[in-house]
Amino acid sequence: MKDILNQLESRREDARLGGGQRRIDAQHARGKLTARERLELLLDEGSFEEFDMFVRHRSTDFGMENDRPYGDGVVTGWGTINGRMVYVFSQDFTVFGGSLSETHAQKICKIMDMAMRNGAPVIGLNDSGGARIQEGVASLAGYADVFQRNVLASGVVPQISVIMGPCAGGAVYSPAMTDFIFMVKDTSYMFVTGPDVVKTVTNEVVTAEQLGGASTHTKKSSVADGAFENDVEAMTEIRRLVDFLPLNNREKAPTRPFFDDPNRIEGSLDTLIPENPNQPYDMKELILKVADEGDFYEIQKDFAANIITGFIRIEGQSVGVVANQPMVLAGCLDIDSSRKAARFVRFCDAFEIPILTFVDVPGFLPGTGQEYGGVIKHGAKLLFAYGEATVPKVTVITRKAYGGAYDVMSSKHLRGDFNYAWPTAEIAVMGAKGAVEILYRSELGDAEKIAERTHDYETRFANPFVAAEKGFIDEVIQPHSTRRRVARAFASLRGKKLANPWKKHDNIPL
Ligand code: HXC
Repeated sequence: MKDILNQLESRREDARLGGGQRRIDAQHARGKLTARERLELLLDEGSFEEFDMFVRHRSTDFGMENDRPYGDGVVTGWGTINGRMVYVFSQDFTVFGGSLSETHAQKICKIMDMAMRNGAPVIGLNDSGGARIQEGVASLAGYADVFQRNVLASGVVPQISVIMGPCAGGAVYSPAMTDFIFMVKDTSYMFVTGPDVVKTVTNEVVTAEQLGGASTHTKKSSVADGAFENDVEAMTEIRRLVDFLPLNNREKAPTRPFFDDPNRIEGSLDTLIPENPNQPYDMKELILKVADEGDFYEIQKDFAANIITGFIRIEGQSVGVVANQPMVLAGCLDIDSSRKAARFVRFCDAFEIPILTFVDVPGFLPGTGQEYGGVIKHGAKLLFAYGEATVPKVTVITRKAYGGAYDVMSSKHLRGDFNYAWPTAEIAVMGAKGAVEILYRSELGDAEKIAERTHDYETRFANPFVAAEKGFIDEVIQPHSTRRRVARAFASLRGKKLANPWKKHDNIPL
């Protein structure tokens, strides 16, 4: 009996070694942790329960029958993050470069199916050379099986991908269909085809970092939602993110203990808006001052910084924030910012996370670059996302809300529940200067007259009261009481029920 027990332990030891000590050392030498070390950091201590530790591939080509390590290049199972259940897979680069075989895919599919059945998020730690070359179409089939599950799980359980090594070919498309992608700086890459293929086909010479490193995907392509310094920071930050999210689409996000008075008055907000309407200010200051304990988890920080997206808590409850940032491109909406915010709004709506919108937007960015790039369709994404969202929506206009962008930014007309404005708000079709230049074109030579017309326009429209008269703004509030007002608004909306008409699914302008 003792022998059998010992045998199990020795098999386990074998499995834990993955591709062997030499490859583990190589992984460490690159500044990367192993698949198991990463899970240890991600999950609560001692909470990991592994599945399929003894699964081995069945391939017999290219001498593969002589090399069948336990686990087949991926560690799967479930555990907890601050006591809440998550399913995980962590690819083991020491086994055939973490490449995906038929059996490797089956392991991932098993935990995804369980996550769906039991209503818990899936977190994938990706470190893979793509399809297992020795297996051919069997591994392509394996990818497709994972992709199909990504699609079915979308909007049912949160799916988070962390890219922690090279991810080439099929390895990028599963993450691409998950809710969030995070990368690790300097050690992770994502590309459909690597630098060598790029050189052969297009003659371009690029490094892996330039083609698909963290900087490329967080700043240029927006494929990734954020990047971390190293594996340890990545795991710590994913734990933090999971705390903001519900386990599935039928549950609310957890309420965390908070030690920040919801009625806290912030006198400094009364002077946040500069005297000169063209002078920028940092919208992040408002977000931090409204949030419980100033805790803000920003999503896509380095992309389209003219709009800010991320999670805060108010009275311990998760809230998704969308805010125009006057510091960048005057906070205008453009293709990138519309896409960024639309995706975020849709995530929040899918997972019942209320949305807080701070508005200071001079309109859509004009120009051929934008029009040729399809700003009409991309801007419509954000309009569509806000319009279809049924979660509690609270909006605060701090300064400009001009033109179509006024409508888009969670206005009353898109079923905003609470639409507040600060006394500094200017809600109009456009700014005074532009309006006067169009309305009084014949008087443009007369500077004095134009100044007078501009002043008239400002007095009449550059305020929140015309909109408030019509009930489009529910209340004009003091900036210093924004946290209290917003907290009370969300508290009053906890029982909100709103359903869209039945449909198979909508047809958002993609
Ligand atoms: C089998 C693989 C592998 C793969 C790497 N290895 N990729 N084995 N299938 N796809 C093995 C290597 O043979 C090596 O084994 C070990 O993993 C480490 O690889 P190295 O090349 O030594 O490491 P490194 O220099 O860090 O380079 C990593 C890499 C490179 C960038 C990932 O290995 C690479 O380019 N691999 C091929 C990537 C690729 O073309 N994948 C197929 C994509 S097509 P030993 O025994 O020496 O340790 C695809 C189609 C799916 O995915 C499409 C679905 C839509």
